[in-house]
Amino acid sequence: MQPAPSRLATRTFDLDEVRSEFPVLSRRIHDHPLVYLDNAATTQKPLTVLDRIDSYYRTENANVHRGVHTLSQEATDAYESVRPVMQRFLGAASSREIVFTKGTTEAVNLVAGSLARGYFKKGDEILLTGMEHHSNIVPWQLAAEATGAVVKVVPVNDRGELDLGAYQALLGPRTRMVAVVHVSNSLGTINPVRQMIADAHSMGVPVLVDGAQAVAHGPVNVQDLDCDFYCMSAHKVFGPTGTGVLYAKEEWLERMPPYQGGGDMISAVTFEHTTYHEIPHKFEAGTPNMAGVIGMGAAIDYLSAFDIEEIQRHESQLVTHATGELEELGGVRLVGTAAHKTAVVSFLPEGLHPYDVATVMDRFGVAVRSGHHCTQPLMDQYGIPGTLRASFALYNSLDEVDRLIDAVRKARKFLS
Ligand code: ALA
Repeated sequence: MQPAPSRLATRTFDLDEVRSEFPVLSRRIHDHPLVYLDNAATTQKPLTVLDRIDSYYRTENANVHRGVHTLSQEATDAYESVRPVMQRFLGAASSREIVFTKGTTEAVNLVAGSLARGYFKKGDEILLTGMEHHSNIVPWQLAAEATGAVVKVVPVNDRGELDLGAYQALLGPRTRMVAVVHVSNSLGTINPVRQMIADAHSMGVPVLVDGAQAVAHGPVNVQDLDCDFYCMSAHKVFGPTGTGVLYAKEEWLERMPPYQGGGDMISAVTFEHTTYHEIPHKFEAGTPNMAGVIGMGAAIDYLSAFDIEEIQRHESQLVTHATGELEELGGVRLVGTAAHKTAVVSFLPEGLHPYDVATVMDRFGVAVRSGHHCTQPLMDQYGIPGTLRASFALYNSLDEVDRLIDAVRKARKFLS
C-alpha cells in the first residue's frame, strides 16, 4: 500500500463543507446546537477517519508483524504505511525515526524513562518551563528521583511568555536535557522553540518538544527545528485516542535502551540474554494499537489535504474575535495574552468559579474546558484555581464564538 502524501494542500478550505464531514457537530445538547470548543482536550473525528477504522476492523483485522497469512500481511502493510505518512507530516529524515506510542504522554515517558537508565547522573539538570503540562513535568521528576538529577524551571511572565534571558542563563554545564512545550495547552502561547533548541545545542544539550497542541494548528518540521525529540498525540489532530508518535533522531534511538520489554521489540530471546529488534521497533513492545495507528494515518491525510496556513488564518480570526468580545464584555480576566499565540482563549469572569460558569454554559450547548488544564504550577503562579478555556479547531465558526460570548453573558447573569 502506498502511503498518502502529507501536507500537500490539495483542498480549498470551505468551512461548511468541513463541518459536514464531522458527524458529531450536528448534535444538539440540552436542545441547543452543540458548540464544541474543547479541542485542546480532544478533537472531533471526520468521516474519513471513522470509515478507515471501521473498514480496518471489518476487512483487514489481524495482528501485525507476526503472521504469514494474507490478513496479517495486509494489516502489517496498512500499519507500516502510516510510518512514512508521519515521517513526512513531521518532516523527519527517515521513517526509522518514527516510534508509535499511546500518545504524547507515553512518548515523554519513553524518553525520560529510557534516559534515566544510564544517561542522567546525580547533579545533572533537567530544564523545563513554567507552562509545561503535567505530562512534561512528572516523567522528568521520576527520572530525577531515580538518578539524583535535578529539575529546573524557566520562568513565565504575566502575559504567558517564556523569559528567554532566564532560559539562556539557566542553560549551563550541568544541563543534560531541555523539555519544552511547543504550544501551551492552557494559554495558547507559541514558544520560540527553534531559538531554544539552537541555544541548547550550543551547549551540547538535547531538546524534547511536546508538540501535542501544535500539530493541528501550524506547520511542524523537526529537521528545520533540529529538535532531538518531538511528541504528539493523534486524538488532538482529528485521529483516534490511544495513539501518537515519538519522533527521535536516529542516533538517540540507537543509543537509548528499550523502554518496555515484550513481543515484537526483540530479535532473539534466551533466558540468559536478549537482543533487540532494530529501531524503531525496539521501542514498540507488544501488540500495538493497529486500528489507532491506521486511523491516525487517515487523520493526517485529512489535515494534510488543506493548506495549513489557511487553517492558521481561520483560527487566528476566531481567537481575535473571541478575545475582542471578551474584552468588550468587561469583568473578564484574560489569562495568556502572548504576542505569539494560537487557537486557545483562556479567561476567568471575575468573582466566579470556572466550574460553575462552564456548567451553566453547557446548558446552552457550549462545551469549554474548566479547571487547571493539567498545568497546576502555571495556575499557582497566576494565583487562580483555573480558567475557562475555549480552544478552537478548523471546523469552528465565528457564529460559534458569538454563541460562546452569549453563553458567558448568560452564565454570569445566572450566577451573580
Ligand atoms: N491535555 C489536554 C487538555 O489540555 C487534556 O485539555
